[in-house]
Amino acid sequence: MSDIRILAIDTSCDETSAAVIENGRKVCANVISSQIKLHEAYGGVVPELASRMHIESIDIVIAQTLKEAGMQLSEIDCIAATYGPGLVGALLTGLLHAKAMALALDKPFIGVNHIEGHISSNYLETTFAPPFVCLVVSGGHTNLVYVSDYGQYETLGHTRDDAAGEAYDKVARVLGLGYPGGPRLDKLAAEGDANAISFPKAFLEDGSYDFSFSGLKSAVINYLNKCKMMKTAVNPADVAASFQKAVIDVLVGKTIAAAKEKGAGKIALAGGVASNSALRARMQEKCAELDLELNIPKGIYCTDNGAMIGAAAYFKYQQGAFSDIRLNAEPSLRL
Ligand code: KG4
Ligand code: ZN
Repeated sequence: MSDIRILAIDTSCDETSAAVIENGRKVCANVISSQIKLHEAYGGVVPELASRMHIESIDIVIAQTLKEAGMQLSEIDCIAATYGPGLVGALLTGLLHAKAMALALDKPFIGVNHIEGHISSNYLETTFAPPFVCLVVSGGHTNLVYVSDYGQYETLGHTRDDAAGEAYDKVARVLGLGYPGGPRLDKLAAEGDANAISFPKAFLEDGSYDFSFSGLKSAVINYLNKCKMMKTAVNPADVAASFQKAVIDVLVGKTIAAAKEKGAGKIALAGGVASNSALRARMQEKCAELDLELNIPKGIYCTDNGAMIGAAAYFKYQQGAFSDIRLNAEPSLRL
């Protein structure tokens, strides 16, 4: 069978990204134009600014991607793009661009669910394959998913309030770490004592694979307010490390329990928070202890990127699951 090359685009939030993926796993090029600098001044992503920036960047990012892959558009077999979930204006930029290219070039088009993209980042530059349990932890989502086969998903649990990355970002903000908070909190926590403060861990009902982080976030804010009122000194590194421990204990505990229940011998991580050093370390430790295979994508494939969309699209391509050219953006799309 000849090689299948997919040009894939992701503009779901604040990164304009495109990639060329060969046979679902080989990354020929993956270009990411980050908007962090643009949104930093506002302490978070401003949707209208994100859309405008995507429009300005998309042509340049695609041209750069083809250049890095050393390919012409004629060598591309299919165009793919994220159609949800995400910010509607941001999604529309990449989606419309991909659909227009597919129409003009007379090539098939595949719309990809962004969460499915994150899960599929585990296929990039690996031979990792289903079945496995995947913990998807990003700024917008926290899902525990059983992947029985390519494209076959059973959602075991999800967050009932904040996403894990959202909790990281909010706690980082109250600690005065700025935006984006997750990676900065990760760094600071490495210098702190994770047992210094006992923050609540929301394991929820027995056997539940759902998550909840808003109570923990409030507990951190209350702790800081109390210290301020009592005029007691705060050690930000200890707060960061203790908060992080409360998050990771729950994430790792539930993922391991799900793998046991499903009889899955493999675990995968995905999403921006999967690049968190403490989460990676703890998961590695636990999986080694229980003799479970663990796959964690490279950091660059954890945060939003086009490559993961190309990986997901390839397995749809193989199944002939092409999308209608009228496919619209779905900001609240579920897995
Ligand atoms: O997957 P992603 O790029 O975007 C979404 O689809 O949401 O994830 C971004 C999230 C942000 O909340 C960011 O703070 C968090 O991932 N993040 C981290 C780390 N790197 C990124 N959180 C904790 N530790 C990190 N090292
Ligand atoms: Zn994402």
